Amino acid sequence: MAAAASGEELRLGCIGAGKMAQGILGGIILAGKVPVSNITVSAPSETNLEYFRDKGCNTTHSNIAVLYESNVIFLATKPHIIPTVLEEIKSSVTNNHVIISMAAGVSLQTLEQLSPPGAKILRMSPNLPCVVQEGAVVFSRGSCAEQQDSDMLKNLLSACGMCEETPETYIDIHTGLSGSGVAYVYLFAEALADGAVKMGMPSALSSRIAAQTLLGAAKLMLQTGDHPAKLRSDVCTPGGTTIHALHELEKGGLRATVMSAVEAATQRARDLDRR
Ligand SMILES: NC(=O)c1ccc[n+]([C@@H]2O[C@H](COP(=O)([O-])OP(=O)(O)OC[C@H]3O[C@@H](n4cnc5c(N)ncnc54)[C@H](OP(=O)(O)O)[C@@H]3O)[C@@H](O)[C@H]2O)c1
Repeated sequence: MAAAASGEELRLGCIGAGKMAQGILGGIILAGKVPVSNITVSAPSETNLEYFRDKGCNTTHSNIAVLYESNVIFLATKPHIIPTVLEEIKSSVTNNHVIISMAAGVSLQTLEQLSPPGAKILRMSPNLPCVVQEGAVVFSRGSCAEQQDSDMLKNLLSACGMCEETPETYIDIHTGLSGSGVAYVYLFAEALADGAVKMGMPSALSSRIAAQTLLGAAKLMLQTGDHPAKLRSDVCTPGGTTIHALHELEKGGLRATVMSAVEAATQRARDLDRR
């Protein structure tokens, strides 16, 4: 089991029980990082709590109860709910708590302003593949969080995929690249499979092949460490099929469109903090 930042036994809490809470805590539970009896999750309705109850975690409708039961607390509500939640729990946050927000766009400065002085706060940006332990997570430390808090979080999140501590300026960019990026990849996968359907392949088979193509291409990129431009050029036989297809993608402006998508999502994440 991971050691709590304070050296005490790690007792994990999560305020919000939706998709990301299930992804992050699901990975932590699967890896056996924390016993389920040490995990408490809150949400206003029963909709998502059942997932955690089925796993043996404690569930509650009281966010304050999560503070009493836990020393490491994830904030997993939508970004616009974060101020309400922090206002609600503020008087119960102590020096023994480490608070980790996964809300897109909400800056460490905002989180610290909404918390009592001296609160240990970290901010992380996850993505959906955390659900299958293939996530890409980055995080940054607030002014009062220490190296041991980073080490504790890194250890916990190693259950969810890759996890790196970065300067906070990269966190909104990570949202544009990876948090939202998962959706761009699905759009591309759908188009890839639809192209095959258009040419006569059954939909289920083309979807499976599209997914495996993305998986294989990603694995090769990670394992070789090569720049994608090099890997792409390796597939291009002069005068062959791939270069003809790439010409079509260039005519459609794929590269510029994807760059604009990352820029738009990053900018939107930055704007969320000012609402
Ligand atoms: N999904 C992604 O791919 C992704 C990627 C990166 C970052 N994030 C971030 O992760 C966070 C959660 O996103 P999500 O997709 O998991 O959202 P979600 O599925 O809608 O889950 C939100 C959860 O918050 C709960 N909630 C609402 N009001 C609350 C309150 N006042 N107190 C306590 N809990 C409350 C909801 O309760 P009910 O169960 O009762 O509805 C629900 O369990 C967001 O801030 C988002 O920016 C998500």
